[in-house]
Amino acid sequence: MYYLQACVLLILPCNLLADSSSSSNETVQAFIDMVLNNITAGSNYVLPLNNSKLAYVSPSQEDIIDDFGTFDFIIVGAGSAGSLLANRLTEVEEWNVLLLEAGGLQNDFSDIPGMTAELYSTDMNWGYFSTPQTRACKGMNQSMCVCPRGKVVGGSSTINGKMYVRGNKADYDAWQEMGNTGWSYNDVLPYFIKTENSHIYNKESDYHGSEGMLDVNYVDPTIFTSVFLSGKEELGDEVIDYNGKSQIGVSRVQFTINGNKAVGSGRAFIDPFLNRTNLNVTVNAFVTRLLIDNDTKTVLGVEFIKDGSKYEATARNEVILSAGAINTPQILMLSGIGPNEELDKIGVETLVDLPVGRALQEHPAFIGINIRTNQTLFNESIETFLQNYLNNQRPYTAPYNEDVLAFMNVNDNESSVPNIQQILVSPPGSTPNGWRTLNFNKQILDQFAELSSPYTDINIWLVLLNPKSEGSLTLKSNSFLDFPKIDYNFYAEEEDVETMLAAITETLKLLETDTFKSVDGKYAPTTTVCANYTEGADEYWRCMIEQLTTSVYHLVGTTRMGTSSNDSVVSPTLFVHGMNSLRVVDAGVMPKIPSGNINAPTYMIAEKAADEIKNYWIQ
Ligand SMILES: Cc1cc2nc3c(=O)[nH]c(=O)nc-3n(C[C@H](O)[C@H](O)[C@H](O)COP(=O)(O)OP(=O)(O)OC[C@H]3O[C@@H](n4cnc5c(N)ncnc54)[C@H](O)[C@@H]3O)c2cc1C
Ligand SMILES: *[C@@H]1O[C@H](CO)[C@@H](O)[C@H](O)[C@H]1NC(C)=O
Ligand SMILES: *[C@@H]1O[C@H](CO)[C@@H](O)[C@H](O)[C@H]1NC(C)=O
Ligand SMILES: *[C@@H]1O[C@H](CO)[C@@H](O)[C@H](O)[C@H]1NC(C)=O
Ligand SMILES: *[C@@H]1O[C@H](CO)[C@@H](O)[C@H](O)[C@H]1NC(C)=O
Ligand SMILES: *[C@@H]1O[C@H](CO)[C@@H](O)[C@H](O)[C@H]1NC(C)=O
Ligand SMILES: *[C@@H]1O[C@H](CO)[C@@H](O)[C@H](O)[C@H]1NC(C)=O
Ligand SMILES: *[C@@H]1O[C@H](CO)[C@@H](O)[C@H](O)[C@H]1NC(C)=O
Ligand SMILES: *[C@@H]1O[C@H](CO)[C@@H](O)[C@H](O)[C@H]1NC(C)=O
Ligand SMILES: *[C@@H]1O[C@H](CO)[C@@H](O)[C@H](O)[C@H]1NC(C)=O
Ligand SMILES: *[C@@H]1O[C@H](CO)[C@@H](O)[C@H](O)[C@H]1NC(C)=O
Ligand SMILES: *[C@@H]1O[C@H](CO)[C@@H](O)[C@H](O)[C@H]1NC(C)=O
Ligand SMILES: *[C@@H]1O[C@H](CO)[C@@H](O)[C@H](O)[C@H]1NC(C)=O
Repeated sequence: MYYLQACVLLILPCNLLADSSSSSNETVQAFIDMVLNNITAGSNYVLPLNNSKLAYVSPSQEDIIDDFGTFDFIIVGAGSAGSLLANRLTEVEEWNVLLLEAGGLQNDFSDIPGMTAELYSTDMNWGYFSTPQTRACKGMNQSMCVCPRGKVVGGSSTINGKMYVRGNKADYDAWQEMGNTGWSYNDVLPYFIKTENSHIYNKESDYHGSEGMLDVNYVDPTIFTSVFLSGKEELGDEVIDYNGKSQIGVSRVQFTINGNKAVGSGRAFIDPFLNRTNLNVTVNAFVTRLLIDNDTKTVLGVEFIKDGSKYEATARNEVILSAGAINTPQILMLSGIGPNEELDKIGVETLVDLPVGRALQEHPAFIGINIRTNQTLFNESIETFLQNYLNNQRPYTAPYNEDVLAFMNVNDNESSVPNIQQILVSPPGSTPNGWRTLNFNKQILDQFAELSSPYTDINIWLVLLNPKSEGSLTLKSNSFLDFPKIDYNFYAEEEDVETMLAAITETLKLLETDTFKSVDGKYAPTTTVCANYTEGADEYWRCMIEQLTTSVYHLVGTTRMGTSSNDSVVSPTLFVHGMNSLRVVDAGVMPKIPSGNINAPTYMIAEKAADEIKNYWIQ
């Protein structure tokens, strides 16, 4: 048994082990082999095109539905929200909770922060793509951006970038102004704090928790961390705690990472609590529909497929959908809850007409600012990286090797609300199969291979935080075998392109700073696909934006919260409008996308929902 297993089993503290030099050659070699085997398997992995494998039912079982039992609560999806919620609800000893998860277990490989991009090419990813985009994703095969989603305990938090970002005070005040009483910043701040165990040395302590279950840390900096921080300071930025009083400024990234281990919601909220007898976590269980009493519009339970058999489970109190912003709407629509005209198209009878799948919001990111420097970082073998990882050293202690970011408003430098997030991606930029996660087409990939210089180049990703464009999620058919249709509809509103152009102009100012000059930082495009325009001209950047805009996987809004069934799906207490005993608790309920990564806001929603549910049922 190599040390990672001992550490996961809590026989020994992970950090101590990682720091000790006692790892024998044999255990190190076993670890390296484990990782390399997973990477090789990833390079051969073919993403599924539908749910046929997951939903396989043995011919002998087709007409049988087994009773899985009755629980007080059934939570569908052990993702960011579902895992946290299951933890909080099982604090009530009298309640028993069934947590159903379509995917399997996390493992030692998924615990390595630097392997994040590799998890894309495994069965821990549902494997969705967007529909072909007209103004973005043009550098991708068929103009389709990828849409990874976690299919594993921990959900998307197991495969995500682990950046811990709460967004802006104004985001939550806007939710409240939209009619969502109880969701103002002052209301939700205690829930952010409750979850967190922050180890950030320069945190503004009034804003942070130190007793929660979720560890938050910095990772070790590199030369480029300092370059970015000083460059931004030269341009007038302050180094801040962006989860504190003010969000505008530059900072090292606060990560849900502990030592050299990724901390997803499964690791934080489920694994240490599996000894609770009132918590039943059932994996490889694919929920296909809700069981509904149509006369009273009351949800009675769920139907699911597990290991080739069909089951139904019933709930005494509530069914809670935490299947995420793509799969929760799918389950709702397959069960007759959705827009009448959409359900008509696919032959599903409407039980409640609600705008499910409308108002999809996502953050587009422009990834075309490649900067060549005269510094070399991590020009070493993967074996060396892995040995260093065991000693808690970069690059594999950080997802995508990102560790520093900035928030800014490129239209109004006085504003306290950012509209752009810059994220620095340092060498070596990616892992062996990592580039697959962008679905680049052959032309872009070939040029990238020729023109990039992975150990000297840094890339500054520009994320548009408050896009005006909205997309949609619809179903192709009435079958749970089919993947939903995900249309980001990026840049449908011209204003979004204009803001991105302004962000590029602002970002290129870094090249004029003494700090960037001291490393000879120069814009070095990795594609010539827009070379039919003069480099640097507006048209050039517009072309680059079309080619090299991707998603950063922050879908929200598909089951948004609000007061009217005209433009929202759930109430401010997260009950589905017009239904009984049914709530949604996941990222889909966000009525407006926050100004930052959305995992922390998803945890906040689950914390608040847990209190709502306790208050509702316990007098
Ligand atoms: C690659 C990637 C990188 C990201 N990076 C960051 C980041 O660095 N920081 C950040 O803040 N956010 C990041 N995000 C976004 C963030 O992780 C997600 O928004 C968040 O995890 C969503 O939480 P959720 O609970 O809504 O859904 P999920 O965490 O996706 O959970 C849904 C769960 O439900 C399960 N499920 C779905 N359908 C069914 C079904 N029919 N039956 C049973 N189970 C089902 C799924 O398998 C999954 O486990 C990233 C996302 C991705 C994909
Ligand atoms: C372990 O030892 C063998 C033989 O001495 C050597 O070839 C190998 O590189 C070592 N492995 C590691 C990970 O140090
Ligand atoms: C589902 O996808 C598989 C490949 O993943 C394919 O072979 C099969 O034909 C598809 N089935 C349907 C019904 O589309
Ligand atoms: C969960 O419930 C199922 C069905 O009742 C049962 O077979 C299984 O043993 C339970 N698992 C746990 C961990 O309690
Ligand atoms: C990937 O790593 C896990 C351990 O984390 C291991 O169980 C699994 O067998 C590995 N997969 C492959 C294909 O080697
Ligand atoms: C579960 O284990 C934890 C940690 O070992 C312990 O604190 C807790 O009391 C245990 N809970 C139950 C229900 O046994
Ligand atoms: C409710 O109506 C739907 C759609 O007509 C049907 O599929 C389902 O079986 C009904 N449920 C019950 C419990 O009758
Ligand atoms: C990386 O190392 C290789 C082999 O030592 C060397 O040829 C190459 O020039 C180095 N690259 C950089 C950017 O330093
Ligand atoms: C902010 O913008 C105004 C107007 O464009 C400009 O005059 C001012 O110099 C800017 N301030 C900073 C700190 O960049
Ligand atoms: C996308 O294009 C690349 C390069 O042409 C190719 O290797 C890859 O298989 C394609 N991916 C898909 C999903 O078609
Ligand atoms: C990088 O470029 C700067 C500015 O030209 C120069 O001062 C510095 O010595 C160079 N560093 C290296 C390692 O070449
Ligand atoms: C320049 O090339 C881009 C990318 O191929 C293309 O979209 C655009 O239409 C071209 N523009 C002109 C004026 O040819
Ligand atoms: C909802 O839509 C109906 C019909 O379009 C309209 O009469 C009603 O005023 C709307 N209600 C709200 C709260 O917007």
